[in-house]
Amino acid sequence: MAAVTEAPARAHELDAFAAAVAGCTRCRLAQGRTQVVFGAGNADADLLFVGEAPGFHEDRLGVPFVGQAGKLLERLLAGIGLTRDDVYIANVLMCRPPGNRDPQPDEIAACEGYLFRKLALIQPRVVATLGNFATKLLSGRPQGITRVHGREQEATLAGRRVLLYPLYHPAAALYTPAMLQVLESDFARLPELLGREAQPVAPAPVAAPVAPAAAPPAAAVQLDLF
Ligand code: URA
Repeated sequence: MAAVTEAPARAHELDAFAAAVAGCTRCRLAQGRTQVVFGAGNADADLLFVGEAPGFHEDRLGVPFVGQAGKLLERLLAGIGLTRDDVYIANVLMCRPPGNRDPQPDEIAACEGYLFRKLALIQPRVVATLGNFATKLLSGRPQGITRVHGREQEATLAGRRVLLYPLYHPAAALYTPAMLQVLESDFARLPELLGREAQPVAPAPVAAPVAPAAAPPAAAVQLDLF
């Protein structure tokens, strides 16, 4: 059976990992960022959210989801009795794309090893992907969020079985009441999913291997992102 890292050790390892990657220059986004936005929250969380990339406010503060989309995320969490401190929040990219443009495939490839390492350290049971980029990266499938939101999938991420739960990105729901309603009802299923037992590790992992912090990017999985 795989060794389970205890909570204080996980937090310590995450901090050490964050310090090790704070000066990352694996992709062009290093040139325009204020700082790497590593991720934030509970190192022992059962629920991990993966957004897209830091925006203006996140880049300034070094914390994910601190702008309007973050406020909505906090409201949605409160609706199911959780706070940011109960979960972990990360992004596909750790650095802000200029003008908040879409992440590029080579930027995603450069950063994905970091995300998989976080997944390996935190060991969440449910991974909720926010929007298209996180959903396509972690499902390894091209289906967009409109088709797959609210439908949990079994997945093997960083060598562990998890429930992958695609959700609309809160930024997309901010000004679209119909989408917000869907997001709220998808969110309402999270407690049920968190109550589920994790499945045993599958014999053949399908996702990217964990990359060590200082190593070159993990070999890109064929993701057919776009
Ligand atoms: N949108 C994201 O996807 N991530 C953030 O951290 C902020 C906004």
